Amino acid sequence: MAGKVEERSAFLTDVKTLRARARKSLDDGAVMPSYHGDVAKTIELLQNVVATELVCVLRYQMHAITADGITSKSVAAEFEEHAASEHEHMMMAANRIDQLGGVPNLNPEGLASRAATEYGNGGNLVEMIKQNLVAERLVIEHYQELIRYFDDHDPTTRIMLEHILADEEDHASDMHDLLVAHEGRPFL
Ligand SMILES: [Fe+2]
Ligand SMILES: [Fe+2]
Repeated sequence: MAGKVEERSAFLTDVKTLRARARKSLDDGAVMPSYHGDVAKTIELLQNVVATELVCVLRYQMHAITADGITSKSVAAEFEEHAASEHEHMMMAANRIDQLGGVPNLNPEGLASRAATEYGNGGNLVEMIKQNLVAERLVIEHYQELIRYFDDHDPTTRIMLEHILADEEDHASDMHDLLVAHEGRPFL
């Protein structure tokens, strides 16, 4: 039993060392020497997440505006709700970049080329729903890969992405439900 306790405590750094490390290199802010990720690479990957989410905000907002016809009020409301959620994701990734000492890139120039998803081209309601479903399915796979990449090297970024991923799966499910409900209706 005593051996097991000793074994476990071997993984823990003593408080004195922790205090000394916390006081050293205050310029590094939230980035501790125990950070096992590559800060520059993490920031670069998160810049792409920011761009991806921003493009998703713009696409959903454009769809919400153009779908706001008599038959599409509830769909427009759903698009609007998703736009707000994507905006939240964008802010989470941007704040994480800031925590790691970077500056989030919100520059509209080159935005589309930094994003994994596409802005889309609108069209009728079913086409809009399909464009959103494609984008959601894309980010689900992309974020699953990023989560595997960050693993235990950067648990904070990984947990943030896990939260975003759960939302994206909800979004995809919502778009799929809308597609089932609306596909093939003659008035669309
Ligand atoms: Fe998102
Ligand atoms: Fe989404």
